Amino acid sequence: MEFPSQRSGLGGLAYGGDYNPEQWPEPVWQEDARLMRQAGVSLVTVGVFAWARIEPSPGLRDLGWLDRVLDLLHDHGISVDLATATASPPPWLTHRHPEVLPVDRFGNRLAHGSRQSWCPSSPVYREYALSLVEDLAKRYGHHPALALWHVSNELGCHNALCYCEVSAAAFRRWLRHRYGDLDRLNDAWGTMFWSQRYGDWEEIVPPRASTAHLNPTAQLDFTRFSSDELLAQYLAEREVLRRLSPDLPVTTNLMVSSRPGHMNYWQWAPHMDVVSNDHYLDGTLADPHVELSMSADWSRGLAGGSPWLLMEHSTSAVNWQARNYAKAPGQLIRNSLQHVARGAEFVGFFQWRASRSGAEKFHSAMLPHAGTDSKVWREVVELGRILHATGDVAGTRVAAEAAILLDYPSWWGIELDCHPTVDVSYMDRVLALYKALWDAGVTTDVRHPEQDLSRYRIVLAPGLYAVADAAAANLESFVEGGGHLVVTYFSGVVDAYDHVRDGGFDAALRNTLGIRVEEVFPLAPGQGVALDDGGQADIWSELLRLDGAEAVVSYASGPLAGVPAITRHPRGTGVGWYVGTRTDPAATGRLVRRILDEAGVRGGEAPAGVEVVRRLDDERSFLFVLNHTADAAAVPADGVDIVSGSTCAGTVTVPGGGVAVVRERARPAATQRPAR
Ligand code: GLA
Repeated sequence: MEFPSQRSGLGGLAYGGDYNPEQWPEPVWQEDARLMRQAGVSLVTVGVFAWARIEPSPGLRDLGWLDRVLDLLHDHGISVDLATATASPPPWLTHRHPEVLPVDRFGNRLAHGSRQSWCPSSPVYREYALSLVEDLAKRYGHHPALALWHVSNELGCHNALCYCEVSAAAFRRWLRHRYGDLDRLNDAWGTMFWSQRYGDWEEIVPPRASTAHLNPTAQLDFTRFSSDELLAQYLAEREVLRRLSPDLPVTTNLMVSSRPGHMNYWQWAPHMDVVSNDHYLDGTLADPHVELSMSADWSRGLAGGSPWLLMEHSTSAVNWQARNYAKAPGQLIRNSLQHVARGAEFVGFFQWRASRSGAEKFHSAMLPHAGTDSKVWREVVELGRILHATGDVAGTRVAAEAAILLDYPSWWGIELDCHPTVDVSYMDRVLALYKALWDAGVTTDVRHPEQDLSRYRIVLAPGLYAVADAAAANLESFVEGGGHLVVTYFSGVVDAYDHVRDGGFDAALRNTLGIRVEEVFPLAPGQGVALDDGGQADIWSELLRLDGAEAVVSYASGPLAGVPAITRHPRGTGVGWYVGTRTDPAATGRLVRRILDEAGVRGGEAPAGVEVVRRLDDERSFLFVLNHTADAAAVPADGVDIVSGSTCAGTVTVPGGGVAVVRERARPAATQRPAR
């Protein structure tokens, strides 16, 4: 199926954002279209929150305005990603059918007045939504402006977990399907514990607020169920679109980031004709731009290495964090090109024109309240120019040398209660290891632990708490086949049902790692431990015994002084590494560099804080250089920098905060071919 970038006026990389014309009087639309052209916009998402405008009262369709919007955009050569408009039901729907409103874990039914106020299992919501999708698909399925269908919006952003009676019944149906009979469910949930044995399916309720700690397997299953329910909504809408508008690709904008989520996107992505993602910088992180890179790599991983779409990010500040930081000059362009460097072929923003009213009126936009005489607008126009000039990048693939594994059940499982300490966080280690690779200039793929890893020489596996048998076997054969595997603490602990594996901590990966973890010793807040290589660690330590592995680093202080903290286990032709404590950034970086050396992965030659990523195919090679520091930086490059237009023979010098996209004269011989 044709991707939108191939249909867009830009010819290569598409550019635009969410366009909400329903918030503005019609004369403004003319100005919008004119300014979009000025900025080089080629693709906009229309109608995301337009349900109340399209269907002002039950069954009544008001679509004349949308006809005019699509025609206007088409006349200006701008393609449309048309939303199914089902993200937020209008007030009349929930007024008529209050049972559609989600219920929280305390049993409170949430009120209307915000957005996404619908229960994912509600058949009433589903019926109204599909009828709307049907009418939109019939009317616009062959409109020449359309390039793509956009199902709903950020499914599960606010309504992923609903605890109402309708959800409870759906959860029971889902459990019957998963377990077949109650004995299997009772075994899986370990219900002999605390007298929780079920004798009738009707006795089962979602994990609502209760007297004390809830059954962990029930909690995990409820998250799995909730992910499946939202996916079912996507699939139901997609079915209508495929039937009535078979020529257009269908997507839904994912929220791939380090923020906790309830959707297992490895299961969703195969159902999307093109993967699309929304990403917003997290102002609480020390290096939000590194997390951005990870989100982009992860989006590419979900897309199986194919190009993907950055559906939304922000030109400057958002409105929904505690402190909403504006972007520094140049950052809008740099952040955008980070995504492109890592596989995005559409750069979209939320939103085109800043809203004057509503909860997001202080959210930045392409066209800010300050108008066109503004830093943001000038950068928006400049970005349009750069994307146009670099259109030839489209269709190339990202060259990655390492992989990091991402596993949703492990993420969900680690965050459950009643664990040895509240301080262990899944994403903390994922980000720490990812950053160590980023700092070493190594481009990383994000993969699922059961995918074929044989093309990598190094794979990092942080916090694989609930590793499945198939994944453990996959990792073992990766090491035996010559790979370097790096596993961090609290991995291999439980099975898919959150039952502790025979032998306790680390049991699933014991053979690969050549260790035994006898007991864990969580550390008190602020209680650091010294490592005998001069490094520091905190939060977690383990009474670890060597069983084939060698100690690389041991504790030099704390309750386990002298006990191995980091181990190395040659197995087959590879090595299984284990890190049994939370090493600080310096120690983590040192360790990862040592393993990269051993694995023969070279990394980049850029100064610290300068990101270098290559996209290529058999004929073309593009070197993206993104300077996140305040000082000019020189990086080896040979070719033409498309951004500045200058030729570089040997090096490209990028100003502080700036970017370069060098069309390389020749593809470096050592570059690994990207996965197909
Ligand atoms: C999400 C939503 C948008 C908007 C932005 C604000 O990405 O999809 O509608 O609310 O957040 O950052």
